[in-house]
Amino acid sequence: FNSDKQYSSNMNRNTGHKHGHVFAVEVATYDSSFPDYRQPVEIGCFSLDSYRQFFNDGRQLKCYVEPSSKNPNFNLRDGYKDRYIKRNEHIKEKLDHILKWVLVNKQRFPMSADGKSPAVGNQLHTDFITWRGHLTKILTTPYESREGWLMAVTLFNGTYYMSEVETEEAKRQREHRTEMQEELMYGGYKFEQYLCADKPQGNPNPAGVVNTNEAFCTVVRTRLSSHSLVFAGEVDCKDISCPSQKPPQCYLELKTSREMYNPNQQRNFHRFKLIKWWAQSFLPGVPRIIAGFRDDEGKVVSLQSFDTMKIHHLVKNERNCWKPAVCLNFCDAFLSFVKKVVTQDDHRLVHLFSWQPGKDISYTVHMDSVYSFLPDWYVEKLLY
Ligand code: A3P
Ligand code: MG
Ligand code: MG
Repeated sequence: FNSDKQYSSNMNRNTGHKHGHVFAVEVATYDSSFPDYRQPVEIGCFSLDSYRQFFNDGRQLKCYVEPSSKNPNFNLRDGYKDRYIKRNEHIKEKLDHILKWVLVNKQRFPMSADGKSPAVGNQLHTDFITWRGHLTKILTTPYESREGWLMAVTLFNGTYYMSEVETEEAKRQREHRTEMQEELMYGGYKFEQYLCADKPQGNPNPAGVVNTNEAFCTVVRTRLSSHSLVFAGEVDCKDISCPSQKPPQCYLELKTSREMYNPNQQRNFHRFKLIKWWAQSFLPGVPRIIAGFRDDEGKVVSLQSFDTMKIHHLVKNERNCWKPAVCLNFCDAFLSFVKKVVTQDDHRLVHLFSWQPGKDISYTVHMDSVYSFLPDWYVEKLLY
């Protein structure tokens, strides 16, 4: 932080809880040079099977198969009615899968000075542990005008754990999705099925079932300025023709979007969609995004590859467009704010950070509440 101007005192708008500072979200404040963001290193991975069971390995990682045509005519609606097993969205998994991974991979965290692993006091020597998707939301906050967020933070044994809480608005939207929205969501996963095989020598099987319980997640370590980060993120597939073969450089992100017919649609794509695509893939160091553009019948009519690190060059000619440096400087400042606010190390304590478009970030403090998210099995096993 260069100044304390970003803080101001705030009257508590939530009932019954302690209040503190607020934190302003303004693009101009963060429009400076790129902060230090270290090349992300994969320190492990895990898989979730069709029953959402955790495995400490890469069994669910799919292999990308380049289609023979750039105009493939994939039908993204195929199987929506009869070959779709949808993950139960009522189950809030919070950080549970990541925490399971941490417990069985303590040795992958930095060791103590005497070289004993795990480190003395079972300190993980990591400032933040969270999901990549939560950080994507933080990164894009300075440019977001629709969806707010709630982030629960707990400081436990020297590490800040950050777990998103669904807003009332997001819950309402989720419970009132139209059939068309549900079908579009399905289409994103169906696209993956058209392009991915289970094995390096295999072929995609578009006749199969789409089961959105299944996932492969990479766990990466990186650093943003003074903050060391470990986060997990779902990865769609790997490019087996990738010369280096080393994760995360060999990973690919798959995306669908509506075909664009006029400059206005192109502009909106640059301004509002590419920022999310960029943030999601930039964070774990996924270098390439394969986009499928669909028509209004749900058919993928064209494919296009985007280099994550070049996305910004595509958008920078748009007036008032987003800047990667603003996103990262803002994230850096927010994480510093979290460290300044959350000082009591207690697995039962949650600081709930709240943001709505056009407003400041504020927080409320909760002891032993519905917001506590570190399970007893984690707290006990990490320490002993
Ligand atoms: P598309 O992104 O191609 O639309 P991901 O792209 O992160 O791998 O996610 C795969 C698919 O899950 C998405 O495909 C989309 O269909 C669905 N999805 C992901 N995040 C979503 C969200 N916040 N709301 C609705 N659907 C989402
Ligand atoms: Mg995915
Ligand atoms: Mg994807």
